[in-house]
Amino acid sequence: MKETFLWGGAVAAHQIEGAWDQDGKGVSVCDVLTAGSHSRAREITSSIQEDIYYPNHSGIDHYHLYKEDIALFAELGFKTFRMSIAWSRIFPNGDEKEPNEKGLAYYDTIFDELLKYNIQPVVTLSHFEMPYHLVTAYGGFKNRKLIDLFVHYAKTVINRYHAKINHWLTFNEINNQMNTKSFLFPYTNSGLLFEPEDNRQEIMYQALHHELVASARVKKFVKLNYPSLQVGCMIAWSPVYPYSCRPEDLLVANRVMHSRTICGDVSVRGHYPNYILKEWEAKGIHVEITEEDLSDLKEGTVDFIGISYYVSHAVDSTQKEDTTGAGFIGSTPNPYIKSTDWDWPIDPVGLRYTLNTLYERYELPIFIVENGFGAVDDLSEEVIQDDDRIEYLAAHISEMKKAIEIDGVEVIGYTVWGCIDVVSFTTGEMKKRYGLIYVDKDDEGNGTLERRKKKSFDWYQQVIASNGENI
Ligand code: BG6
Repeated sequence: MKETFLWGGAVAAHQIEGAWDQDGKGVSVCDVLTAGSHSRAREITSSIQEDIYYPNHSGIDHYHLYKEDIALFAELGFKTFRMSIAWSRIFPNGDEKEPNEKGLAYYDTIFDELLKYNIQPVVTLSHFEMPYHLVTAYGGFKNRKLIDLFVHYAKTVINRYHAKINHWLTFNEINNQMNTKSFLFPYTNSGLLFEPEDNRQEIMYQALHHELVASARVKKFVKLNYPSLQVGCMIAWSPVYPYSCRPEDLLVANRVMHSRTICGDVSVRGHYPNYILKEWEAKGIHVEITEEDLSDLKEGTVDFIGISYYVSHAVDSTQKEDTTGAGFIGSTPNPYIKSTDWDWPIDPVGLRYTLNTLYERYELPIFIVENGFGAVDDLSEEVIQDDDRIEYLAAHISEMKKAIEIDGVEVIGYTVWGCIDVVSFTTGEMKKRYGLIYVDKDDEGNGTLERRKKKSFDWYQQVIASNGENI
């Protein structure tokens, strides 16, 4: 492993900061999401309602406790910390001309605190935090005007922080929204709310296109003004295996994988691949694309690929249902792997396979910016014995190392998702914990917010100190 390898942890602003309405911050899409659970979906309320508990409003109060948190990250030996800027702290409604200085100053403080410990911040510009006003007044990213509003926000923060941040990611898990059966993903990715009569796929592809163009324009701006900075895309990469060696299973798996490859293909190669043009033609989907968009996509290709990796899936071409809830017809449980208590399949070998597939396809550096294990922690001992989390992380890191050392894949960093317990994105729970650091807060918002090191804290500290030798 290279000495420069970026070991660290990752979070998103809406899941940790809290202080949802302080220092001029506007309402973001996650601020109107209720708490859910594994069996109960989160809901969107059209405005903030007094009698409802919104878990993201308080997060883990990192907004005020950041010094303590960053000191713990330093103790872990982090080389990097992946975080996001809450767009609505900088532009509360999203369409102002002038930014909110208090929001900008807040992130200066955070970056300076990280840099004090030689921890390089890696920043995601949009991690499910768009201003809610852009949903109600513009309809989210299906509206072309969002391109300019996002690019204005991105230029504002890049101009301000370019000397402090080297790696930038544009849209977190930009491909989640391909699952249009779910209300959550198109809403959090793009601010889309569907009406019953809507052609969901057409709207989603239009929004996705606007984001791909916005991302390319940001990259073009960086190339021109700050050429040493690195801009990456961020894709949720869960491989889909053919359930059997039946040729039809292979073909279906390949087709389902288009929902992962499409964003990389456009962001890395700079144009839409034929398979998607054919899919649109077959489904009668019309996406408005200008000549300028096409040239921006070509000129604004990314420098590296950011991925989240949690799970893999299997597809059976004879199945006509989505039996696992993976978001596509034919999804079926893989009998060779176990799952978490939230039914997320655990597949470390799939990470090695993913890294190989991605590198063979794009030959660009890969940054694993999310990987982690969500579970209930057992509090019966003084130090939380989270051996399952250690086992999960160790297995994935070990497969990543094989991809680097045996297969020759260029991986530049690895950040554990939710290195400190955060509010779960899909369920809004606290009890689905990912952290190496425990936070005393429950699903109803009660708790002292005390931070406690788990057993995995010492383990990961050793992994970093040995540059991946002691796993
Ligand atoms: C990714 C997101 O989808 O997975 C994170 O980028 C999220 O924001 C993570 O927290 C884990 O998902 P969850 O629902 O378990 O929090």
